[in-house]
Amino acid sequence: MTDNPCRVTQRHYDYVAQRTRGDDEFLRALKAEAEKAGIPKIWISPAQASLMQILLKLRGAKRVIEVGTLAGYSAIQMARALPADGLVTTIELEPRHADFAEAWVAKSDVKGKVKVLRGKGADVLKTLPANSADACFLDADKENYPVYLEQAVRICGKGGLVMADNAFAFGQLFAEVPDESGVHAVRRFNDVMAARKDIHGVIAPIGDGCWVGVIE
Ligand SMILES: C[S@@+](CC[C@H](N)C(=O)[O-])C[C@H]1O[C@@H](n2cnc3c(N)ncnc32)[C@H](O)[C@@H]1O
Repeated sequence: MTDNPCRVTQRHYDYVAQRTRGDDEFLRALKAEAEKAGIPKIWISPAQASLMQILLKLRGAKRVIEVGTLAGYSAIQMARALPADGLVTTIELEPRHADFAEAWVAKSDVKGKVKVLRGKGADVLKTLPANSADACFLDADKENYPVYLEQAVRICGKGGLVMADNAFAFGQLFAEVPDESGVHAVRRFNDVMAARKDIHGVIAPIGDGCWVGVIE
């Protein structure tokens, strides 16, 4: 155990959320329509979006790769943190999600700054050139996170920013009998991240825990 007492509680999460930039009208409408379309409400929180936007701005990122588009919420949020000629390339397996995201990107303020690629993350990532992006955000099937990480390191190279969602395993990180198959995969991935000597990373205790790391 550390010398530092733990101070993060649900109350802190709520306090942080109340003091972080929230969704604008467009993003609220996107979420409402996604819900109506039966798309699961598993997008990142506005507080996590802010953290990622700040990191992207500090990195001076122009090219971002995302695995797991869903309704396009995080892709649009990240694109907003990029310069006018920036691009988020986001990969989605489920055609219904990809269609929805494309339609909403097309009517967003970041039209032209988000490209949706369809297919399995592992297959699509392989087609992207080395050193062609500044940052990657992993937010799809947890079992493949280690594969995505290897690709992220190749695609971003030194100085690249790696972010990965759900480090707290849907709130079940310490559950004795988890009811989500991805929990074990998240635990394994967290250990993989912690063991990597070439990535200076930390789990930011925001949302469901977000890994942020710099490739050294
Ligand atoms: C948690 S959601 C992504 C949320 C999104 N990043 C956001 O915050 O707005 C995960 C998405 O990954 C997609 N997915 C699952 N397995 C995948 C795979 N092997 N390759 C690509 N996408 C996948 C799912 O269809 C789903 O849309």
